[in-house]
Amino acid sequence: VALEARRVPAARNVILFLGDGMSVPTLAAARTLLGQRRGYTGEEAELSFETFPTSGLSKTYCVNAQVADSACSATAYLCGVKANQGTLGVSASVPRSNCSASLDPAARLQSIAAWALADGRDAGLVTTTRVTHASPAATYAGAANRNWENDASVRADGADPQQCPDIATQLITEDPGRQFKVILGGGRREFLPSHVVDEEGSNGTRTDGRNLIEEWRSDKIERNVTHSYVWNREQLLGANATMPEYLMGLFESSHLRYNMPTNPTTEPSLAELTEVAIRMLQRNNKGFFLFVEGGR
Ligand SMILES: *[C@@H]1O[C@H](CO)[C@@H](O)[C@H](O)[C@H]1NC(C)=O
Ligand SMILES: *[C@@H]1O[C@H](CO)[C@@H](O)[C@H](O)[C@H]1NC(C)=O
Ligand SMILES: *[C@@H]1O[C@H](CO)[C@@H](O)[C@H](O)[C@H]1NC(C)=O
Ligand SMILES: *[C@@H]1O[C@H](CO)[C@@H](O)[C@H](O)[C@H]1NC(C)=O
Repeated sequence: VALEARRVPAARNVILFLGDGMSVPTLAAARTLLGQRRGYTGEEAELSFETFPTSGLSKTYCVNAQVADSACSATAYLCGVKANQGTLGVSASVPRSNCSASLDPAARLQSIAAWALADGRDAGLVTTTRVTHASPAATYAGAANRNWENDASVRADGADPQQCPDIATQLITEDPGRQFKVILGGGRREFLPSHVVDEEGSNGTRTDGRNLIEEWRSDKIERNVTHSYVWNREQLLGANATMPEYLMGLFESSHLRYNMPTNPTTEPSLAELTEVAIRMLQRNNKGFFLFVEGGR
């Protein structure tokens, strides 16, 4: 098998699809239901990805906990290093909530998204959670606590956001997030000050007065790149037609709604978000890395 594998050319594009919390028993239940809906006993069916030629299993424990959370597990599958529960993008030398330990350069990890960018490829993320939630955050952020999604949460945890910038700030102002061509998901509130009411009537959560959506725009204007910020499905389809170089879409104040109760005319589906992201990224001849999460 190893010899066989070596003859396979290196991949140009990598898309990592994550079903957050989608365990082996969940797959068994979904497969069985699919088969039964087709009038069989159930086991005859296969989910799309079960038809792939290879599959594998991994041990998901954290360094300090047997039951993984999204932060330590995302650090493992995106950065290749096991970490402590609740920490992301930093090594296990960092105890949860310890800002100063997370500043040690030796503790900072790079993700596969950063590796792709360093190689001249493009990178992006799609999620049905807040884009600052633990799984997507490990593509671009380092934080001693996954809850540090905005400056108020850093401060509430006894840390200084000047020293340890929150996750939303890292996405907009630091590499590799600043270089992501596509950012699609929920979580507008983490990017807006508490006195600002968003398009759908929710206040932001930031207490530093920063409007990071405006800062994202200013950064792209400064760099003279075409860009588009969207917050509903119609605008997303507009961007899919005009294809700016950079696209950020935040469709809810917090997480996107579940697929069934959502309003399909105002809120895009995960499939639509993924299609637009792939179209955006496939313009790079060197390839791309895309993270796609069904996070709810
Ligand atoms: C935080 O980490 C630093 C450096 O590793 C360590 O010296 C310090 O005791 C830790 N602080 C707490 C509150 O655990
Ligand atoms: C939301 O923002 C509005 C407008 O600035 C402000 O009047 C209101 O007090 C804010 N609400 C909360 C809960 O902070
Ligand atoms: C900005 O980009 C456009 C299109 O590529 C180009 O024509 C223009 O000269 C650039 N402007 C600056 C100030 O670099
Ligand atoms: C995006 O545009 C392409 C090309 O026009 C089209 O085939 C596709 O259906 C569009 N995607 C969505 C989600 O509308």
